[in-house]
Amino acid sequence: MALQATSFSLHNLVNLPAKTAGSSMDSGLFGVSLSDHRKLDFTSSSSRTKMEFTRRRAFRTQAVATTAPAVIWTAPEGKKTLRKGSVIITGASSGLGLATAKALSETGKWHVIMACRDFLKAERAAKSAGMSKENYTVMHLDLSSLESVRQFVRNFKQSGRPLDVLVCNAAVYQPTAKEPTFTADGIELSVGTNHLGHFLLSRLLLDDLKQSDYPSKRLIIVGSITGNTNTLAGNVPPKANLGDMRGLAGGLNGLNSSAMIDGGDFDGAKAYKDSKVCNMLTMQEFHRRYHEETGITFASLYPGCIATTGLFREHIPLFRLLFPPFQKFITKGYVSEEESGKRLAQVVSDPSLTKSGVYWSWNKDSASFENQLSEEASDVAKARKVWEISEKLVGLA
Ligand SMILES: NC(=O)c1ccc[n+]([C@@H]2O[C@H](COP(=O)([O-])OP(=O)(O)OC[C@H]3O[C@@H](n4cnc5c(N)ncnc54)[C@H](OP(=O)(O)O)[C@@H]3O)[C@@H](O)[C@H]2O)c1
Repeated sequence: MALQATSFSLHNLVNLPAKTAGSSMDSGLFGVSLSDHRKLDFTSSSSRTKMEFTRRRAFRTQAVATTAPAVIWTAPEGKKTLRKGSVIITGASSGLGLATAKALSETGKWHVIMACRDFLKAERAAKSAGMSKENYTVMHLDLSSLESVRQFVRNFKQSGRPLDVLVCNAAVYQPTAKEPTFTADGIELSVGTNHLGHFLLSRLLLDDLKQSDYPSKRLIIVGSITGNTNTLAGNVPPKANLGDMRGLAGGLNGLNSSAMIDGGDFDGAKAYKDSKVCNMLTMQEFHRRYHEETGITFASLYPGCIATTGLFREHIPLFRLLFPPFQKFITKGYVSEEESGKRLAQVVSDPSLTKSGVYWSWNKDSASFENQLSEEASDVAKARKVWEISEKLVGLA
């Protein structure tokens, strides 16, 4: 019985690699070399930026105690200087987020703001990953509460740090849930956390990204193959499908509207896949609305099947036991947490990955390529509709 359940679940969750449509392209990991950084002249910023930074420095001494931001660089007037890139990564307390935080912090060129719901867990994770104190700050963020998102943004702005890259990585996945659970705001948990929490966060931090004087500013929203029905994995039932979005428009509250975006019966695996479609649509809508005006690079990615992460924590134990070897030896879609972290770190920092509106994937040689999104995940009208409904649900419209 258990085995039956497991093989069904394995079938349900095969994260087969996407068709490797892309060419191998040289994508050196943390492409911005130290010498490149040294060429930067941050003192040539506009006076508005200088005033802004002066204001921010004044804040530093009284910044929120828990975040304990350190002054990571000071620029003697009139001299060329080097500053670290400043990147927020949500859900950096485990899996892909932690591996990315580690990869970036190890370069010494990035200060990582680990935006996590469990402060202690994140501190311990950073410590056990060997991350050096001066390369990261933990800040509290619970994406399943819109007020927590707003509070995080207030704290971040108060900290005075610049924002160069925002990585929307955190996610919950409830494949065995029989009934929906809800966010603090009464929204189905998977879509509420993975999509709406990140939607509000990105919108509220967009101005900070705009103001960044870093050579390349980026907003990255982690996607997934499972939301793309143009792949084998994306065709494993239950398939992602937003339908006419009547459930989303109704607030996903499970009372006077369905807890599912398409208005159907609750299915935890589908809710996750639908949330990933929203992630990928949102990235493209950001690109269409803001790339030209702001120069921000908007990107999404499928990092590979990281079968060992906490994402599968709610699955039955036998599934968790068999899924990693199944991915390693049968589908060959497996990537280690370390490798996935290097991939996402590339999307954060590699100068060759600055194209906006792209969904990145990696081929068998770990070379990045621009992947094709499914028809639904690249539907312009659906992207606009997701955006407009989401604005209302998070209180921005
Ligand atoms: N694993 C895969 O094979 C795979 C494949 C494709 C895409 N992805 C994507 O990769 C991303 C990371 O997943 P993962 O595999 O690394 O899983 P993971 O280890 O479970 O990481 C998820 C992170 O999200 C955090 N999180 C969950 N709910 C949150 C909330 N309400 N507020 C703030 N943070 C919250 C978790 O915090 P706690 O540590 O406190 O639980 C954890 O740090 C997700 O976007 C996922 O969709 C994963």
